[in-house]
Amino acid sequence: MERTFLMIKPDGVGRNLIGPIVSRIENKGLKIVGAKLMTVSEDLAKTHYGEHSERPFFGELVDFITSGPVFAMVLEGENVVEIGRTLVGKTNPAESAPGTIRGDYGMTVGKNIIHGSDSVASAEKEIALWFKEDEIIDYSLVNAAWVY
Ligand code: TYD
Ligand code: MG
Repeated sequence: MERTFLMIKPDGVGRNLIGPIVSRIENKGLKIVGAKLMTVSEDLAKTHYGEHSERPFFGELVDFITSGPVFAMVLEGENVVEIGRTLVGKTNPAESAPGTIRGDYGMTVGKNIIHGSDSVASAEKEIALWFKEDEIIDYSLVNAAWVY
């Protein structure tokens, strides 16, 4: 079964949006198999956003993501990487449709509420970076047969 990594950023946590965002994930039918509130070290932030290390916004991005707690999640389900990105919306909240998390809650690219893995390969890398194996739980959802 496919897995993806979603992370509510410090602006989302600070605005009390953990509940509303987790509700969207559950309502959609996605299965949460890992979740934790945590602070992000500079090392973790730089590794996670390594592909952007040469971009002009990299310093601000690392400062932002380490500025307060984040809520990290692993989701599991058929096609969950693409579905996760669809729920999250486009990078720029101004271009994200209403109904998406960034479209409904975000205002600027710099503070866009949530991260979602952009491919199966990045999801695997990010899950290994953010979660230990024993923090990911194998269990059954009672309604899974109706969703998948
Ligand atoms: P990116 O991987 O392009 O977007 P996404 O989060 O949708 O995968 O960029 C990573 C983060 O970097 C993005 O969520 C917000 C920040 N960012 C900026 O601050 N300014 C920018 O111009 C871009 C492209 C991204
Ligand atoms: Mg990205």
